[in-house]
Amino acid sequence: MRSVGIGLIGCGTIGKGVVELLTRNAETIARKTGLRLELRHVCEINRSVWNSITLPSGRFTADLNDILNDPETNVAIELIGGTTVAGEVVKQCLAAGKDVVTANKALLAIRGKEMFAAARAAGQCIVFEASVGGGIPLLSSLREGLIANRIDALFGIVNGTCNYILSEMATHNRAYADVLEDAKRLGYAEPDPTLDVNGTDTAHKLAILAAMAFQADIDFATIPIEGIQAIDRMDLHVARELGYACKLLAIGERNDDGISLRVHPAFIRATHPLASVSGPFNAVSVYGNAVGHCLLYGRGAGPAPTASAIVADVIAAATGNARRTFEQFQLLQDQNEPAIMKPIDAIQSRYYVRAMVKDQPNVMAQITRIFGERAISLSAITQHEAEADAPQDIVPVAITTHMAREGAMREAIKEIEKLDVITAPCVCIRVVAEHEEFKA
Ligand code: HSE
Repeated sequence: MRSVGIGLIGCGTIGKGVVELLTRNAETIARKTGLRLELRHVCEINRSVWNSITLPSGRFTADLNDILNDPETNVAIELIGGTTVAGEVVKQCLAAGKDVVTANKALLAIRGKEMFAAARAAGQCIVFEASVGGGIPLLSSLREGLIANRIDALFGIVNGTCNYILSEMATHNRAYADVLEDAKRLGYAEPDPTLDVNGTDTAHKLAILAAMAFQADIDFATIPIEGIQAIDRMDLHVARELGYACKLLAIGERNDDGISLRVHPAFIRATHPLASVSGPFNAVSVYGNAVGHCLLYGRGAGPAPTASAIVADVIAAATGNARRTFEQFQLLQDQNEPAIMKPIDAIQSRYYVRAMVKDQPNVMAQITRIFGERAISLSAITQHEAEADAPQDIVPVAITTHMAREGAMREAIKEIEKLDVITAPCVCIRVVAEHEEFKA
């Protein structure tokens, strides 16, 4: 049986999951693939980790050279995270003749072009299924199972932490901060959870998915990003009352005039296929011009699901399958032209707006006038009495609109926020309908 030498770099939450999976499923993997995956080195500079898991002696090292200089180590797994040190480590591994498996979405979203070019220059490949959607075989589906399609759109829930927070807040009426603590404890959140909740992690994943789906070099800085920090339990209650679920969506659409990419919370109908994706689960709806709507669903975060994708990538590297598609297919940032991005102001959507207002005469008239002046048509208005613990004279007003242009909506909100009866910034959430199959 052929042995494949692995060097693991960075042994945090996910790294430990990889070590555990390689041990637990060694026989299953060997029987299925004819490969014996041998973890030869675990490079971890934090020595307190060395005693936290059991490995044969001598496997832990703080010196990357032990991996770089070992001719028996064929595949390096980069789990350091971040875009600086990790980038240099990836380039060193490639130059040393290792294929690289990584879960590092930030690195590939921001420096992907450079990393892929470095791999080509070294005659190696980079495999990165675990960077998007944890254990869901999303990238391999785009690269293989769906390769015969022109991909027209993707709609995804790709951050387990945000989805877990929104689900728990909506279903169990829990406070945002409490649920975030749980997400950290369960290993869903990034070391810096700000990247989860402010939408950046979702945007990293969207950039990677979109580059492959739309064959485009995506400039990450051009993706409009909104997170979930401003969402209150009351927004989730209104959503439910109106028949919606609130999800943080990654949206990518290809039109004749360019590609539209964006990350923002969205109200989606309770019957929408993504509405029942709860907790740490992720799902991506892909719309291909032959397959139609294809929904890929599974656990998007956590050590074991992520390790499932990482070990699959190690096997793809070891068999040479990864290298063949890396070289032949034109799916990566360094192989494609810069994307023509459609500005967000040009998109049309329906909207939910929640304003905190002074409970006094003429408030509603002032707000609706601002919408009316911009030809924005309202579809529902809800005002509840003030909560028992809220200041008596301040109440939330929730409004949904018919289709409107993003630019007009932004102007309207700016004007509304200038009214002296408004006591806090408005919360504005797009209402997103199910994408039509075979639309483009
Ligand atoms: N922090 C990420 C999430 C982990 O919550 O989805 C998986 O990329």
